[in-house]
Amino acid sequence: MRVLVIGGTEFISLHLVQELLRRGHDVTAFNRGRHAERLPAGVTAIAGDRKDHAGLRERLQGHRFDGVFDITYAPTLGEDVTALVAALAGEPHIVFISTGRVYDHALPIPYSEDTPRGFYWGDYARHKIAAEDLLLERHRTGRGPVSIVRPTHVMGPLNTRNNETFFMDRIWRNRPVLVPGHGGWLRQFGHVEDLAIAMAAMLGNAKAYGQAYNVMGEDTVTQAGFVELIAEVMGKPVTLRHFDPVLLKSFDKPGPVFGQNLVYECHAVHATTRLRQELGLRPRYTLASALAHTWAWYKRAGGLDRPVDFSFEDAILAKIGA
Ligand SMILES: NC(=O)c1ccc[n+]([C@@H]2O[C@H](COP(=O)([O-])OP(=O)(O)OC[C@H]3O[C@@H](n4cnc5c(N)ncnc54)[C@H](OP(=O)(O)O)[C@@H]3O)[C@@H](O)[C@H]2O)c1
Repeated sequence: MRVLVIGGTEFISLHLVQELLRRGHDVTAFNRGRHAERLPAGVTAIAGDRKDHAGLRERLQGHRFDGVFDITYAPTLGEDVTALVAALAGEPHIVFISTGRVYDHALPIPYSEDTPRGFYWGDYARHKIAAEDLLLERHRTGRGPVSIVRPTHVMGPLNTRNNETFFMDRIWRNRPVLVPGHGGWLRQFGHVEDLAIAMAAMLGNAKAYGQAYNVMGEDTVTQAGFVELIAEVMGKPVTLRHFDPVLLKSFDKPGPVFGQNLVYECHAVHATTRLRQELGLRPRYTLASALAHTWAWYKRAGGLDRPVDFSFEDAILAKIGA
């Protein structure tokens, strides 16, 4: 199939491009060209900014696609999705990457696709919900099929979020890991390759039309348990230092203390029954094997020697007298 990927050169979108090529698709990537050299051979590149709607229309003119993956969050507002749909010739299947953060996280876990959505996560949720609704309306009104993908924390090689690698930095250097509060909030992660496989499998699959799918790994782990599992995978000991997260408010510019975005005080656990039952997809990676794969990449990619600034954590350690 002729497939357009909005993005294509960083993390999720690059893994997706690789998976689409493995499946024999004819792939075009639309991005601003900041990392054009990362695009694998055989991919057609279109350079442009999705937020420039006139430019988007101009650059997509004359192209015809059977499928479109809308990956890039730029941040992507409803109007950006509308502009993309308007710029496409014909009625390609659009697979839109949303997020598990569309669910109202004040509700009890686990979140299935039928859990009410809400703005617990602010503008990020608001923008993703607006985009979902516009696209699902496109599907409902017969203007072309749509599928929605809702991942939660995605991990793996090339991750642009410093979550699992944040802890590898500290454990490798025998640094203590600061844990906000009890460290018992439940988290769920997914390997980026499993996400790419699931998205590619949806392409042109009529069962996925008009549907939203949670896509993530099956393991659920506490914040503290996540760090301990990383240490186990690395074969290193780890010391956890719990602290009261209220302390963060005493800093003008608090730095990250527990991954890039794993500090939040609620559970984030999802059910993947729909993905398994309707599409027959289950993750190839467990949390432990996903971490082992990422640790191997971290070492290859120079993570062991990368400079890390611990000054903010040192300030907290000094305050808690550790
Ligand atoms: N990572 C997670 O844990 C997670 C969880 C849930 C949902 N998501 C969703 O997953 C999606 C992808 O996230 P990702 O971080 O892995 O990034 P990504 O897919 O690699 O996206 C970045 C790509 O988009 C391009 N891009 C960025 N801004 C652009 C613009 N204005 N116009 C055109 N292209 C642009 C970048 O190239 P240029 O810079 O060269 O333009 C790059 O190719 C996002 O929608 C995010 O909300 C991520």
